[in-house]
Amino acid sequence: MHKIAVIPGDGIGPEVVREGLKVLQAAAGKHGVKYELLHYDLGGERYLRTGEVLPAAVLEELRQVDAIYLGAVGHPEVKAGVLEHGLLLGIRFGLDQYLNLRPIKLYPGVWTPIKDKGPQDIDFVVVRENTECLYVGMGGFMHKDTPDEVATQVACYTRKGTERVVRYAFELARKRAKQRKVTLCDKSNVLTYGHDLWQRVFRAVGAEYPDITMDHAYVDATCMWMVKNPEWFDVIVTCNMFGDIITDLGAMVQGGMGIAASGNLNPQGVSMFEPIHGSAPKYAGQNQANPLAAISACQMMLDILGEAKAAAAVEGAIVSVLSSGRIPTMSASGGLPTSEIGDLVAAAV
Ligand code: IPM
Ligand code: MN
Repeated sequence: MHKIAVIPGDGIGPEVVREGLKVLQAAAGKHGVKYELLHYDLGGERYLRTGEVLPAAVLEELRQVDAIYLGAVGHPEVKAGVLEHGLLLGIRFGLDQYLNLRPIKLYPGVWTPIKDKGPQDIDFVVVRENTECLYVGMGGFMHKDTPDEVATQVACYTRKGTERVVRYAFELARKRAKQRKVTLCDKSNVLTYGHDLWQRVFRAVGAEYPDITMDHAYVDATCMWMVKNPEWFDVIVTCNMFGDIITDLGAMVQGGMGIAASGNLNPQGVSMFEPIHGSAPKYAGQNQANPLAAISACQMMLDILGEAKAAAAVEGAIVSVLSSGRIPTMSASGGLPTSEIGDLVAAAV
């Protein structure tokens, strides 16, 4: 029996999560997956009502579940940063979800803005470090709000933190058994301390994987290649900040925010699955948001929970619905209603 914590969150979060759970129910029924859902009311509304973002007792409860399924966080009436730091990063850091897995895969029937590229060209995974870098919250102000103001924001990297994601990337390239290549994406020509560490760790770990090709691209060039030659990539490993940025580009390459999913993994602990998109307040409550990203996140969750058959059924259903051409666009406006997409995928399962 898998215990799954559900955090629908803000904006379109509850709507897309509802469809993900619909598909989960269908896949679980078909493949004998036993699960129990624990619903958590966290997000902007709760914060505005009670001032609570992520109560310590709730984080302790989340430690005890098998997986977390999250919709989106971000509320127009809450100052930017409060929920992002307190809730999203609070869970990622609190549960040491040190890997952020972001597959960039173009499914058949999905439009990509990249001319002359198809599903055979766009199929790679970004392994984003998820608990260090500029996200650690180290830094401060001096002489704040004066002409002499100084602000620092420290990018912090540890050998252990770097090594565990780099190792995961090599293992993943082996498991995928495609190009058997890992590309380190960094800015070591400028970040001569932090990314020097990444370079050295990459070479040391890579030496243990003679069957995997070690590749390197600076982050600016990575953006260029992702558009020009996405077929060059198999597994990209990168720091938290760059991973954040290049996966929004990746989401566009694979057809849009409506379809991009991610998993915040702690392979030794509790992992959390979420669409890459945000809460999109302007579409909230309108049954317009595309739930495919949330449904894909649910597929990743099933996979990590060890339910490979159910996960494959969900992916197969997504592929069959997309190839049928019944979803005209991946974007919120002009696509099918949220609930209809969920119905189609659930039926295809
Ligand atoms: C993401 C988001 C978050 C991040 C924000 C909301 C803190 O952009 O999951 O990519 O930067 O990691
Ligand atoms: Mn992001």
